[in-house]
Amino acid sequence: MPKIAYVNGQYAPHRHAMVHIEDRGYQFADGIYEVCLVINGRYWDMEGHLARMERSLGELGIRSPMGPAPLKTVMNELLRRNRLRDALVYIQVTRGVAPRNHPFPIDDIEPALIMTARPFDLDQSDAQAVKGVAVITTPDIRWGRVDIKSISLLPNVLAKQAAVEAGAVEAWLVRDGKVTEGSSSNAWIVTGDGVLVTHPKSNEILGGITRETALACAADLQMRVEERAFTVSEAKNAAEAFISSATNLVTPVVAIDGVKIGNGAPGAAANRLRDAYKERARRISGHENG
Ligand code: PDD
Repeated sequence: MPKIAYVNGQYAPHRHAMVHIEDRGYQFADGIYEVCLVINGRYWDMEGHLARMERSLGELGIRSPMGPAPLKTVMNELLRRNRLRDALVYIQVTRGVAPRNHPFPIDDIEPALIMTARPFDLDQSDAQAVKGVAVITTPDIRWGRVDIKSISLLPNVLAKQAAVEAGAVEAWLVRDGKVTEGSSSNAWIVTGDGVLVTHPKSNEILGGITRETALACAADLQMRVEERAFTVSEAKNAAEAFISSATNLVTPVVAIDGVKIGNGAPGAAANRLRDAYKERARRISGHENG
């Protein structure tokens, strides 16, 4: 069965899914994206992702291509056409197509919307979480508005590539000695006395939707949380560490720059939080598909 993508109003076989060469996303990275997890036909944290998408569009002055209801219809149709029940849905909106010129086009051009879906294997993700992952640290060289989920991701790409080359799964980005977040996930540690620590929401991190739900789970579990920046050395001496994102859920970190965290195995708090996150997301996930 050919994979199907959605491109500006059309469903097309993946290999024929094309955008114009003067799409401003292609030339200026002038656009935003979202990645939503679907398990067993149900969206996890969908409302949060759609709300953040609206916010990102608003911050960049890009017109919303369609409202949440038709967007969900397209997402459902994409999953149906690809016969997927466990998937990652990628949504991208750019300012649209116009002759290359830095300022926003004078004409009110149509924003460009594309969507793809690929299979997600929860068992494989669980297996990774059982082992835990290694991260490296690298300077955070990104711009000052990383709270916007912009498609301009070159620093993130370079950081992730450095991680892969070092045999790690994620790169933690460091600004002024403090860890901001991962290249595609939020970063957390657990202190010796059991306090969960993660960078506060600001222009220096992307406010993860999984991070938000994990905070709600931590509150349910009566875990103590401090939203503050932490240093690399605090992280290396922490009892536990973990990452959160739509693609990783909550995944324990067992080494930072080759330094074992705790006893080098996934920690109890991270494991509890992963279970609680899965439980909560299942319970409140919206929109049964098909
Ligand atoms: N990345 N921080 C960054 C820089 C991210 O790119 C992401 C998500 C997150 C976590 O956000 P959320 O919990 O809403 O997924 C934090 C997606 C998954 C990606 O780029 O593929």
